[in-house]
Amino acid sequence: MMTQNQKLISWVNEWAELCQPEKIHWCDGSETENKQLLDKMTASGMAVKLNESKRPDSYYFQSDPNDVARVENRTFICSERKEDAGPTNNWSTPVEMKETMKKLYKGCMKGRTMYIIPFSMGPLGSRIAHIGIEITDSPYVVVNMRIMTRMGKAVLNILGNGEFVPCIHSVGYPLEPGQKDKKWPCAPIEQKFISHFPETKEIWSYGSGYGGNALLGKKCFALRIASVMARNEGWMAEHMLIMGVTNPEGIKKYFAAAFPSACGKTNLAMLVPTLPGWKVECVGDDIAWMKFGEDGRLYAINPEAGFFGVAPLTSMQTNPNAMLSLRQNCIFTNTGITPEGDIWWEGIGYDAPEGTITWTNEIFDPKGSKPAAHPNARFTAPASQCPVIDPAWEDPKGVPISAFIFGGRRPTTIPLVHEAFDWNHGVFLGSIAGSEVTAAALGLKAGVRRDPFAMLPFAGYNMADYFKHWIKTGEVAPDKKALPKIFYVNWFRKDENGKWLWPGFGDNIRVLKWIFERCENNAKAVRTQIGNLPAVDSIDISGINQGIDIHGLLSVDPEMWKEEIALIKEHYALFGEHLPVELKNQLIALEKRFQ
Ligand code: GTP
Ligand code: SPV
Ligand code: MN
Repeated sequence: MMTQNQKLISWVNEWAELCQPEKIHWCDGSETENKQLLDKMTASGMAVKLNESKRPDSYYFQSDPNDVARVENRTFICSERKEDAGPTNNWSTPVEMKETMKKLYKGCMKGRTMYIIPFSMGPLGSRIAHIGIEITDSPYVVVNMRIMTRMGKAVLNILGNGEFVPCIHSVGYPLEPGQKDKKWPCAPIEQKFISHFPETKEIWSYGSGYGGNALLGKKCFALRIASVMARNEGWMAEHMLIMGVTNPEGIKKYFAAAFPSACGKTNLAMLVPTLPGWKVECVGDDIAWMKFGEDGRLYAINPEAGFFGVAPLTSMQTNPNAMLSLRQNCIFTNTGITPEGDIWWEGIGYDAPEGTITWTNEIFDPKGSKPAAHPNARFTAPASQCPVIDPAWEDPKGVPISAFIFGGRRPTTIPLVHEAFDWNHGVFLGSIAGSEVTAAALGLKAGVRRDPFAMLPFAGYNMADYFKHWIKTGEVAPDKKALPKIFYVNWFRKDENGKWLWPGFGDNIRVLKWIFERCENNAKAVRTQIGNLPAVDSIDISGINQGIDIHGLLSVDPEMWKEEIALIKEHYALFGEHLPVELKNQLIALEKRFQ
């Protein structure tokens, strides 16, 4: 054992007694331990070691076809009162959920090793960071957590006798003596539970080994539990990338942007600008934790240490910095695998070599209907390997945020970019954010779904109270003039023929440039009903070699907005009494501006 922390020791003992693992292993986070786990998984057939000369120290996994993404309908916020989980979360009482899950956990680790993973979300010792301990029976989770968090012995040293967020995870597939393990053990869907107990700050996950269901530091801790802690303690936990943008004069600003899952955070966070002289550096690609600093500005850290990114369509053309981050020490899940032992996916930028194997372990037919990679195939890569990782990405102080950017996939209605009139209007924009459904979660109806602040699946408490927390953050800000400005972008507007109006990716710098200059008060804007829009000549489209319908991209169609307002009303009606009056007033004001 590597700790004297009595609470930790007795918590581990209690769970060992319930889950009945064959062995207990305290993870030290070392290279040796990592290699041993990967070797063992390779020997058992769960992992494939990729070609050492093509993809050194990297491994390939295929999940069970029924365990490929977050399961939102099996995700629960178990507060004492239903009202505190709010209308957008699944809810159960803590007592009932614990009773149900304890039955599942009983003996669930038979024939397996129980791993104890101490991890820090955020740079070790940062005042914004927090420590969690994950118990898991999945060695796949251990090797992923080692990339995604600061993990191991050093964390226990910092923890001492202090507090941690207890996270318990099992794949839910006990082994009888002599029973052969599956390649990807997991439980059937009706036995999967991803449960959060916000009042006691606990996470209980059962039955899934995939992504956010199993790497509990990520969505479960860093968003659902942390959002509750943030509300209680006066900080912010957001589904946001963090990026540094430097202009040709060498002035640097940091932006934080919230887009729903699979809507372009990883891509934006490390984009290669197509405008000469501009530079983008990446602090984080998925989650931001923020606190006000002594100077009154809002400071953000990336609580993670790696990228768990969507693989399909990632290429040297779309996201070279992600591709370069993947050169070694990575884990690939549900991509295709080539006969040479390298990975392949749709949109990687070259054809699949003959004999490529799909994520379901069949021979890939380029003319067939089955893709080589699952649409939610992911890479796990150390952030430190990103060529444009920001020099301050591990600064325990965090980086000062100048602008918040919201967005999503909206084929119509929403212009390329607009700016909020003020903080509360910005909160309104966040609260009405929406997007077309993507593959990052299972079982969702196609169409636009409201995803306020990109937090719909991740708010650990009543979404309307979370809106209130945003309003309040504006009120209690030590220096209101130092608050980030708020913007809304849409890279995904389409023409009548379904073609993207905007080239996106590296060309998004053109929009970031306008945002940057708005933060310096030197870009032109036009006041419209929905917010401040760029004057048509103030988006720099020089050098784009496709026709750009800038009028179309920036148009605000009153008829469409009337439909949009009706949808916003429906969305707001969900929240009843909890909806902050400030937001009700914003909606009334918006409607008035269209009369
Ligand atoms: P999560 O990891 O699920 O939170 O997703 P994310 O928000 O980080 O999304 P990511 O950057 O992985 O992008 C998801 C998909 O959107 C990829 O297939 C990208 O190719 C596509 N995408 C990203 N940026 C753009 C863009 O500017 N334009 C267009 N058309 N597609 C984009
Ligand atoms: C997301 O779905 O927003 C992700 C992937 O970032 S997961 O870690 O599975 O939540
Ligand atoms: Mn995400």
